[in-house]
Amino acid sequence: MHKPHIGVLGASGLVGSFLIPLLAGTDQRITVFSRRRIHWDIDLISWQPLSAPARETITHWISLFPIWVLPEYGDWLTDCGAKRLVALSSTSCLVKDRSKDPYEREVARKLADGESFLRTWGAARGVDWIILRPTLIYGDGNDKNISEIAAIVNRLGFFPLLGKARGKRQPVHAQDVAAACAAALDATHVVNRAYNLTGGETLTYREMVVRVFDNLGRKPMLPSFPEWIFALALSGLRVIPRYRHWTMAMVQRMNRDLVFDSSEAVHDFGYAPREKFLIKRYRK
Ligand SMILES: NC(=O)c1ccc[n+]([C@@H]2O[C@H](COP(=O)([O-])OP(=O)(O)OC[C@H]3O[C@@H](n4cnc5c(N)ncnc54)[C@H](OP(=O)(O)O)[C@@H]3O)[C@@H](O)[C@H]2O)c1
Repeated sequence: MHKPHIGVLGASGLVGSFLIPLLAGTDQRITVFSRRRIHWDIDLISWQPLSAPARETITHWISLFPIWVLPEYGDWLTDCGAKRLVALSSTSCLVKDRSKDPYEREVARKLADGESFLRTWGAARGVDWIILRPTLIYGDGNDKNISEIAAIVNRLGFFPLLGKARGKRQPVHAQDVAAACAAALDATHVVNRAYNLTGGETLTYREMVVRVFDNLGRKPMLPSFPEWIFALALSGLRVIPRYRHWTMAMVQRMNRDLVFDSSEAVHDFGYAPREKFLIKRYRK
C-alpha cells in the first residue's frame, strides 16, 4: 500500500527527538517544518522553513508544538493540502482550568482554545483530526519535569515535600508519546477523537521522587515542610527567570491525584506505554 508523505511540526522538541527516528524506520518520506533549521542525518527526512509553503502537497501531519500555536498555521496547513492531522495537547486542559494560579488557568484556557480551533477548522476544511493529551512527559534526562527534580536532588541532596505527597501520577515517556502519534496517524479508522495518553505505571508523587533518588544512586531524603516554607522559598526563587512559573499550586498538587484513563487509545490504535516509570541514568 502507498505510504503517505508526512509533515511534522514542532519536531525540534523532546517528543520530536523520538518521533523522527521512529518515522524514518517506516520507509516514509518525512518533511520537518520548523522556525530553526534542524538537520537529521537520515535520507528520507528533509527540512523546510515554517515560514514558506510546502513545496508539494502533504496530506498527513503530526503537530508536536503547543496546540495553541495551531490557529496561526490553519491556512498554511490547508494550503499544504492537509487531510489528516494528529496534534498533541495535554491533560493539563482537564485539571488546570480550576487552578488557583492565574498562569495555570491561562495555560488550560489556551490548550482548550487550541483544541476547539482544531475541531472547528477540521470540520470546515474537511481535515480528519486526532487530539492526543499526554500526562507529564519525561525523557532520558533531557525533559523539563523529571530533570528538574533530579537537578534539585543533585543540588540540595534532599527533595522537599508538602505533607505526604501522595497525589498519584502517571508519567509518560516521550518515546511512547511519539509512538502514539505515529500509530494514531496510521489508524485510518480513527477520526475526530481526543485521547488521553498516560504512562504505564501509576505511582504517588513521593514514589516518583524516590525513583529519581534511586536513579541517581542516592539515598532518598524527603523531608516534609509546611506551606509557608514553600511560599517563602518560591517568593525568592521566582525572581529567577527559569523559575518564574513555579507556583504554590504546583506544590499543593503533590497531594492531589492526577489520574487519567488511556484505555481508549490502547483499544483504538494499540497505544502501549512502557510498564515502569524510570528511566535511563540522569546526569549527576
Ligand atoms: N512537557 C510535558 O510534560 C508535556 C505534557 C503534556 C503535553 N505536552 C505537549 O507535548 C508537546 C510536545 O512537547 P515537547 O516538549 O516535545 O515540545 P515543545 O518543546 O513544547 O515544542 C516543540 C517545538 O514546537 C516549536 N514551537 C513552539 N512554539 C512555537 C510557535 N509559537 N510557533 C512555531 N513553532 C513553535 C518549537 O520548535 P522551533 O523553535 O524549532 O520552531 C519547539 O521546539 C507540546 O505540544 C506540549 O505542549 C507536554
